[in-house]
This record gives sequence, C-alpha cells and structure tokens, in this order.
Amino acid sequence: MKTYLITGGCGFIGSNFIKYLFSKQENVFVINVDNLTYAGNYSNLQEFDNNKNYVFVRADIADKSAIEVIFEKYNIDFLVNFAAESHVDRSIVDPETFIKTNVLGTTNLLNIAKKNWMINNSDQYLEGKKYIQISTDEVYGSLGKEGLFTENTPLDPHSPYSASKASADLIVKSFYDTFKMPINITRCSNNYGPYQFPEKLIPLVISNCLNHENIPIYGDGMNIRDWLFVEDHCSAIDLVIDNGKLGEVYNIGGNNETTNIEMVKSIINYINKNVDENVDENLIRYVSDRKGHDRRYGIDASKIKADLGWSPLTQYSKGIIQTINWYLDNTDWLDEIKNGKYRKLAEKEVCS
Ligand code: NAD
Ligand code: DAU
Repeated sequence: MKTYLITGGCGFIGSNFIKYLFSKQENVFVINVDNLTYAGNYSNLQEFDNNKNYVFVRADIADKSAIEVIFEKYNIDFLVNFAAESHVDRSIVDPETFIKTNVLGTTNLLNIAKKNWMINNSDQYLEGKKYIQISTDEVYGSLGKEGLFTENTPLDPHSPYSASKASADLIVKSFYDTFKMPINITRCSNNYGPYQFPEKLIPLVISNCLNHENIPIYGDGMNIRDWLFVEDHCSAIDLVIDNGKLGEVYNIGGNNETTNIEMVKSIINYINKNVDENVDENLIRYVSDRKGHDRRYGIDASKIKADLGWSPLTQYSKGIIQTINWYLDNTDWLDEIKNGKYRKLAEKEVCS
C-alpha cells in the first residue's frame, strides 16, 4: 500500500484529488495536511471521516515540528504539495502571506522529505519516494495572440502569487540539481469544477447568478484562460506520480482557450435558459482591471501526452454544465462557505 502525504487537501484541487485517488484504488493511505485557511474546508472530505486509510492533520506546511512528526509517524512514499495561497487578487493586497506559504512552506516540506528519504547523506534515496510540486501555468507569464507555453518557456511571473509559485518551482528544481532529490513539477492551466472557492471566476459567476448579484469583469473582458476540468487535472497528476521521469516538469492544459467575457456570457445564458429566466447579461459590470493582469495563458501539453499518454477526457461544454449543476445542487455548501462554518477545528486533528 502506498502512503500519500497530500498538503492542501481541503482546498479545491486537493479535495478533488483525494476523492479521485480513493475512487481509483482503495489500497492507498492518505494523510491530508491542511491548516484550514479561508480557502480550506474540512467538510469537503467529511465522507472519509471513518475511513481507516485517511487521516487529517491540521498543520501549516511551514511548521517544521508538525511536518517532522508526520514523517516520524508515517512511512511517506509520495508528498504531493497542493497547499498554497492561490488567489492572484489577494496576492496583490498581501504578498507576504504568499511568500510564507508558497515559498517557505515548500522549502520546509522539501527539507524534511529529503532528510527522511535520503540514504546516509548520499545522492541515493529510499526506493519509490517522490515529491510532486503542483504548480501553475502562471509562472510563464503572459502570451501574445500567438504561441503556447512549453516546459522550456522561460519563467516570467508578474503577480506576487505567480512569483511565489515560480520561486517555489526553482527551489524544487534546486533540490533535484543539488541533492538529486526525486521530484516532479506539474504546471496546469485554469481548473474548474466542484468545490472551487467562489472568489475564482467560474464559481463567482455561478454564485452571483443564483443570488442575482452583479458580475464584475476586469478590464475589457478579453483576457484569455485555458480551462481544464479538475478531474482531468487529477488524472494527470496521478500519472505523473506513478510514471513521471524524475526531475521533469510536465505542463497540463485543457486545449480550451476562451475570453473571460465569452465564458461568463455562456454561463449566464445557460442559467437563463435552464434555471432562472430572470438571470441575464444585465448582471455584467465592467470594473477596473486587475493590476498586472496577464492577457493570455495557453498550454502546450504535448509532452505529457507523448511521455505519459495523458489527454483531457472532459469536453468543456459538458464539464461546465456538470459544474453549474453541482453548484445548483450544493447551495448549502456555498452558503456555508460564505459563513465560514467549515473552517471549524476538525475532530481528527493530531497536530497543533
Ligand atoms: P485553494 O486555495 O482552493 O486551496 C488551497 C488549500 O491549501 C486550502 O485548503 C488551504 O487551507 C491550504 N493551505 C493554504 N496555506 C496553507 C499552509 N500554510 N499550510 C497548510 N495548508 C495550507 O487552491 P487550489 O485552487 O485548490 O490550488 C491548489 C494548488 O494548485 C495550488 O498550489 C495552486 O497554485 C495550484 N494550481 C491551481 C490552479 C487552479 O486553477 N485553481 C491551476 C493550476 C495550479
Ligand atoms: O492559470 C492557473 C491559475 O488559475 C492558478 O494558478 C490560480 O491559482 C487560479 O486562481 C487561476 O488564476 P486566475 O487569475 O486566472 O483565475 P481567476 O478565477 O482569479 O480569474 C480568471 C480570469 O477572470 C482572470 O483573467 C481575471 C478575471 N476575473 C476574475 C475575477 C475573480 C474577472 O474578470 N472578474 C473577477 O471577479
């Protein structure tokens, strides 16, 4: 049985990944380390409360003693680091929190994993161990009208968020270059799907439609993102964990670029036709642009396709309807998120 240390498992992608792992194979042991920031929701994984192969630990990834205790207690095979401050707008207001978690937290995890996995201070590691850094296409910066990000595109982050993620990537790479630590880095495009915190564009639009609230569009609404259904991101990460060549970076993308305004209008129109005819494009409000707003992201995912045989399975037209319906069926979740109820201390907490 493989033992996974998943950080940030109570967030959007981390909780989807843990559900994905258990749905694929029961024969895994998962330790979920999350300090339940505003973005972390213990209830996302409450279904595993009585699962003997699942443990939740409330801890900060930058906390040395808490992470050391976990490595002493469990024989970790894979450390998959999802934990991060992830929202660009917040990073513009408060960069320091992003540096603490995304840079110092990542460094702490690497140091402790290295100490536990390295054999006798050599370049040899215990068999089968690997650290996987969940990174983002935003580290590459912004594209013009043409071209795509490849794994060789130079890093050129613009926001404090993307700069902190790029810094973390370089530190992870340095542990491979210097210590031969077994690592992979994945860089994915924009995800959408169930359990995404409603500060991000897609759940924000759905939530505001349901509440008849205005929908803010930054700038001219012509910024382009490449949207990927979260389950496809999870399957890509799973393949990288099992088969990724040590030291390699893998881009992951949806091959599905749209402008923000086109995407927002399509959600509004779906809700208008299928859910509530009082919701229409009059909810749209053009507002001041995000500072340093990247114009276009587009991922070339040909390496992961060629090397690991991955391609996305969910068409955007189907995934977005599935997502809208998930939020419609889970208005309690949205309400609870807004009330912050799910950030209460978890009963299974073993570290402070
Ligand atoms: P999220 O904000 O929904 O979740 C982050 C989780 O990390 C939360 O549960 C939070 O409580 C936890 N966390 C934050 N700081 C922590 C700390 N110091 N110690 C322990 N836990 C902490 O984020 P997400 O959208 O699920 O993103 C997960 C990862 O994937 C991030 O690293 C992000 O950079 C990356 N990513 C996200 C996207 C996307 O579209 N959302 C795309 C590509 C990559
Ligand atoms: O590309 C991957 C990244 O995608 C991840 O690394 C980040 O963690 C994730 O948050 C996401 O970043 P974005 O900044 O692209 O996502 P966000 O949902 O914040 O915004 C998507 C686009 O919509 C972006 O161009 C800004 C715009 N926007 C966003 C919000 C919240 C609006 O126009 N209005 C809004 O209210």
